[in-house]
Amino acid sequence: MLLCKEPETIGNLYKRAADLKLRTIGPKVHLRGLIEISNICRKNCLYCGIRSGNTLCERYTLTDEEILLCAEHAYSAEFGSVVIQGGERTGKKFTERITSLLQRIKLIGNGALGITLSLGEQSEEVYKEWFDAGAHRYLLRIETSDPDLFRKIHPNDRYHSYDRRIRALMDLKSIGYQAGSGVMIGLPWQNAEHLASDLLFLKEMDFPMIGMGPYVPHDDTPLTQMAATDPTASFPSVADRLELSLKMISLLRILVPDINIAASTALEALHPKGRIMALRSGANIVMPNITPSDYRKYYNLYDRKALLLEDLDLGEVEIGFGEWGDSLHFNKV
Ligand code: 5AD
Ligand code: SF4
Repeated sequence: MLLCKEPETIGNLYKRAADLKLRTIGPKVHLRGLIEISNICRKNCLYCGIRSGNTLCERYTLTDEEILLCAEHAYSAEFGSVVIQGGERTGKKFTERITSLLQRIKLIGNGALGITLSLGEQSEEVYKEWFDAGAHRYLLRIETSDPDLFRKIHPNDRYHSYDRRIRALMDLKSIGYQAGSGVMIGLPWQNAEHLASDLLFLKEMDFPMIGMGPYVPHDDTPLTQMAATDPTASFPSVADRLELSLKMISLLRILVPDINIAASTALEALHPKGRIMALRSGANIVMPNITPSDYRKYYNLYDRKALLLEDLDLGEVEIGFGEWGDSLHFNKV
């Protein structure tokens, strides 16, 4: 299916996945208000615009008050839950700041908001501290399930280790988080076999939630330069990456029908209707960006200039307002 070029067959795949989603978890789409708290990151992933080595990236950190205001906004807009996302940082000061923020967000509406964290690899103790402070879901993508490809898209040092990433995912699960993972689609060197293995990996790891999106090159990154100079590092066109991403969503929905699958924001960088297309292909989660607009332009993981002006139009879907929208799959495992 990943290699299929037949429009009718592909259309049927999308439809079958959308029908299965409807029958398994129902018609609703759940929203997570995404708060990008800071673009300071200690990692240096070769594809990412906010990697530590990018001196052209202007750094920012939201204040506690700004973050709490975003969370209150999510609560009053009945988003049900928020995602606190930021570059990976460590240290007692950072950890404690997040803990206190979690406790304060939990006070809004008497614990009304579900909280997902997306703050990279941390020690088991830190994950535990944040779980106890009120976070109950955590997003940490494996990026690719293939250790060799993982090595090619990350610097070759101890901060970027496939095994360490797996370990972190295991820690999250054993603490009791709903752990979400996912991969990038259409990377340099990546082929259909890699993607098929990704799907099987995500199923085998039994993640209750998944966020997968297309690779979107960013000008100021080594991977973009490598793709321009190394013929083996070519990657699919915009149209092909869009199609591959939608196919991946549909195939995963069929492989594991009751999980939460996000319509990733990166899709919208490829096509103005990218996220709606994902919802029509089996996705059921949308993460509207609620970061104050003054800061959004600095959180450029990938080139998303087109995206900054886009407002999400979800007119055609049914929203689960005020609900956490936990994965049905998680309650079973
Ligand atoms: N294209 C697409 N996704 C990217 N991410 C980082 N850089 C890019 C890029 N250039 C994704 C990674 C990471 C998530 C927060 O953003 O998958 O896990
Ligand atoms: Fe940091 Fe995540 Fe970007 Fe890697 S992908 S440099 S961990 S923000």
